[in-house]
Amino acid sequence: MGTLSAPSIRMRKVRDGADRLVMVTAYDAPSARVVSEAGADLILVGDSLAMVVLGYDDTLQVTVKDMAHHVAAVARTKPAAHIVADLPWMSYHISPSKTVQNAARLIRAGAHSVKLEGGRKRLPMIERICGAEIPVMGHIGLTPQSVHAMGGFKVQARRAEAARRLVQAAKSLAHAGCYAVVLEGVPVQVAAMVTEAVEIPTIGIGAGPHCDGQVLVYHDLVGFEQRLSPKFVRRYADLHTAATEAVRRFSDDVRSGTFPTLDESYHLSEAELAALGVAGI
Ligand code: KIV
Repeated sequence: MGTLSAPSIRMRKVRDGADRLVMVTAYDAPSARVVSEAGADLILVGDSLAMVVLGYDDTLQVTVKDMAHHVAAVARTKPAAHIVADLPWMSYHISPSKTVQNAARLIRAGAHSVKLEGGRKRLPMIERICGAEIPVMGHIGLTPQSVHAMGGFKVQARRAEAARRLVQAAKSLAHAGCYAVVLEGVPVQVAAMVTEAVEIPTIGIGAGPHCDGQVLVYHDLVGFEQRLSPKFVRRYADLHTAATEAVRRFSDDVRSGTFPTLDESYHLSEAELAALGVAGI
């Protein structure tokens, strides 16, 4: 199966009989290999990089340079999955030309499309990026780059008026050219309304089962990230515990002198030992 293109992803509406889209984040070569070999349709090099890999408290700290560095690491593995790169905060807020340059930088690093957060106020930037022939994925609802404006990472569109605005926002993103839209942190009924209202697929995270696809953060899914446990995360493994246990066993073996063994070491040949006048070990 070849890499899914943005136009083929655009067609993936469950109501039209399509299979649900699977998107998982990855930020480096090993995670990209895992996600792609497991058969995900899309790899998102998300700006969640800031929180799950770089140790920041929010996503506002990563730059286009950081994102390009990680997109390139993912792209070098030549995954079968479509690579989406997040445009970080302040990379698409200043001017349309800066926005296009930043999007192009992520495409040149190896992404197949870019994602940006926000509703109607992003339309001019979306049109400009699409005008440069770069496919754009939208992201509405709980938009982590708006953490200060939202007053925290809070579920959005809980009131009828806000739900109607979200539906309108999704429609305008689709109209402006987005090929898909992430719905994050919204009530299940609101996600269903949006999914019903738009012709492009919705990809949910904390948005219930009625979306056209789902996305999770790799480190949450495999249990590397355990400090936070939002209710929408399902952990499919406990790699944090497995990795901690592995490092603990290594430490014990080093301290007790049982690692490495001679079988795990390189040896001089008999001839070289004789030349050195050293007895064999
Ligand atoms: O950066 C990210 O991981 C994301 C997902 C939460 C959709 O944007």
